[in-house]
Amino acid sequence: MKGPIPTLKEQHDITKTKLSYVFTIPKIEDEGFLCFAEGKNHLPFDVKRFYYIADVIKGARRGFHAHHKTRQVLFCIKGSITIVLDDGQYREKVVLNESNKGIFLDRMMWHEMEDFTKDTVLLVAASEYYDEKDYIRDYQEFSMIANKRWYRYQQK
Ligand code: TYD
Repeated sequence: MKGPIPTLKEQHDITKTKLSYVFTIPKIEDEGFLCFAEGKNHLPFDVKRFYYIADVIKGARRGFHAHHKTRQVLFCIKGSITIVLDDGQYREKVVLNESNKGIFLDRMMWHEMEDFTKDTVLLVAASEYYDEKDYIRDYQEFSMIANKRWYRYQQK
């Protein structure tokens, strides 16, 4: 992980992964369940945007980009998914399959999503409004920028 990881005000069951962390938001079970999260209280940023992905066809892989500025939290609220994270140096795979577990995706974190099950619903909370200029969609370009940053960080 490059630099400090943004902290959550309420530290809910955080599990560090190699490149990020997975955390738990409140889940109320009562004839079904209800999960909730408040910007900054349960999430590492104030949310400006959310989107969700569902009905993904078998074998499809998505993502394949990083963001200059946007930070995101991904919740697999139904089904299961594998998130591939890559910071330009290391690569890891994290399986998400619990509705109240979110994975934090920092800026400059290349990510791919795979192994969607038929019923997967992926909910994403983002720190910024949509801006195509914020995307890095070319892995070579991403790797170059990420490794320059890493070099500068190590020089400090
Ligand atoms: P994209 O981020 O490329 O999704 P994926 O990596 O899962 O394929 O977005 C797909 C399309 O949706 C792209 O044309 C941009 C548009 N889009 C928005 O307009 N607003 C948004 O908030 C998001 C996430 C995507």
